[in-house]
Amino acid sequence: MYYGLCKDCRLVEGAKRGAIYNFQTGKVYSLNKSATQLLSACEESTLDDLLDLSSSSSQKYLQFFDDLTSKGVGSLYTFAPDKLEETVQTSEASDDDVKLDFLWLELTSKCNNRCLHCYATCGPLIETEDCVPHERWLSLIAEASQSGATAIQLIGGEPLMYPKWRDLVIKARESGFEFIEIFTNATLVDDTCINFFKENDVSIATTIYSDCSDIHDKVTLNKGSFDKTITAIRKILSAQVPLRIASIIMKANENEAPKIMDLCKELGVEVTPPDVVRPTGRGDDKNMLPAAYSKQPIKPPFYTDALSFASAQKQHSCLAGKIAVTSTGDIIPCIFARNQLCGNILSETLATVLSGQLLQECWHTTKDHIEKCKDCEFRYACNDCRPLAQGSDPEKRWLACSSECSYNPYSGKWEE
Ligand SMILES: C[S@@+](CC[C@H](N)C(=O)[O-])C[C@H]1O[C@@H](n2cnc3c(N)ncnc32)[C@H](O)[C@@H]1O
Ligand code: SF4
Ligand code: SF4
Ligand code: SF4
Repeated sequence: MYYGLCKDCRLVEGAKRGAIYNFQTGKVYSLNKSATQLLSACEESTLDDLLDLSSSSSQKYLQFFDDLTSKGVGSLYTFAPDKLEETVQTSEASDDDVKLDFLWLELTSKCNNRCLHCYATCGPLIETEDCVPHERWLSLIAEASQSGATAIQLIGGEPLMYPKWRDLVIKARESGFEFIEIFTNATLVDDTCINFFKENDVSIATTIYSDCSDIHDKVTLNKGSFDKTITAIRKILSAQVPLRIASIIMKANENEAPKIMDLCKELGVEVTPPDVVRPTGRGDDKNMLPAAYSKQPIKPPFYTDALSFASAQKQHSCLAGKIAVTSTGDIIPCIFARNQLCGNILSETLATVLSGQLLQECWHTTKDHIEKCKDCEFRYACNDCRPLAQGSDPEKRWLACSSECSYNPYSGKWEE
């Protein structure tokens, strides 16, 4: 007889421990070294070959198999479990070819705010010139749609300071984009903008840093900005234009998270815990970090399913299919990944950059490439944010492990 995992389960080995991924329940079970080695050996050998079934020392192993069986994770088999079925089940995600799906267009680095933490170092007195001609933005939108993109976000800087932003929305609509979002500080949004959003099915994302004007304005360094933003938010909502509110916590607003979430609730907007300032641009300053508020650390429980498991072995869980284009025409894999240059739309076609090695490497960065993670049994269930890991690394390495993880796969321990 053989003992093997059910067809919806997989064993993943780490440096010290292992994990069983159950696609039916979504659960990921952690296993010690000897259990991992035993299950791994079961893939090739019968129980009779592996254990002396009459000996009392084998009882604990048989008990382990009983436990797995009762959890619906494993079973006895007359023949070696068929590997063919594995291939069939995960084949949907086995295609290496990633298609463009979403792009950020950073229309301008100009902004009427000058937020303390801005990753794009934007502000009213910014010296970098925006150098993408309007015609190039228009042709890029068409190229992106032809390459398969369905969602686009106009961002900045302050995108409403780009004079012809409306033309770009219309072009995106005409090109067949299904989702168009403008990420704006909303201080310049007036009634004509709101009518335009409604007529063109535009969604809005905006940001607040407090429910109190003084604190919000201390982050934006623009007195009166909170009143303008909140007035626009109320008008946008009453016009039934889809709106989401982002928020970032830093030292200057570190006690504001609960109040921001209460305000979102009062406004009837989806409530999500604010993110913590990321170490990019002006935000790359340890003195800016809040003392107590922090990101949720990476820790179990992890979630799995057949598709994400297969895809995690081929491509990056977040970056695959995304690009950001800056106001100087640079293509980067994410709006936060400011140092990860993959090309420039002023000298290349989008298709050239999309098929280029630099972007393809970003899209195909898996946990198998990341230091420490590559030896971790949770690597096909654990999400990843490369710009955050890179920004937090003292040497700014693209393949650095996330600083939010305290797991040591070599000792098999979570180290607080
Ligand atoms: C760069 S802004 C552009 C859109 C618009 N000007 C605004 O502020 O809403 C987009 C979002 O990025 C956030 N952001 C900027 N710098 C950041 C940083 N270093 N870490 C985390 N989020 C940041 C802003 O707070 C804002 O929510
Ligand atoms: S975060 Fe947004 S509003 Fe603030 S300076 Fe940057 S682009 Fe302007
Ligand atoms: S971040 Fe890396 S080491 Fe930590 S749990 Fe995830 S895969 Fe494992
Ligand atoms: S999670 Fe990280 S990689 Fe993904 S979009 Fe956000 S910043 Fe970029």
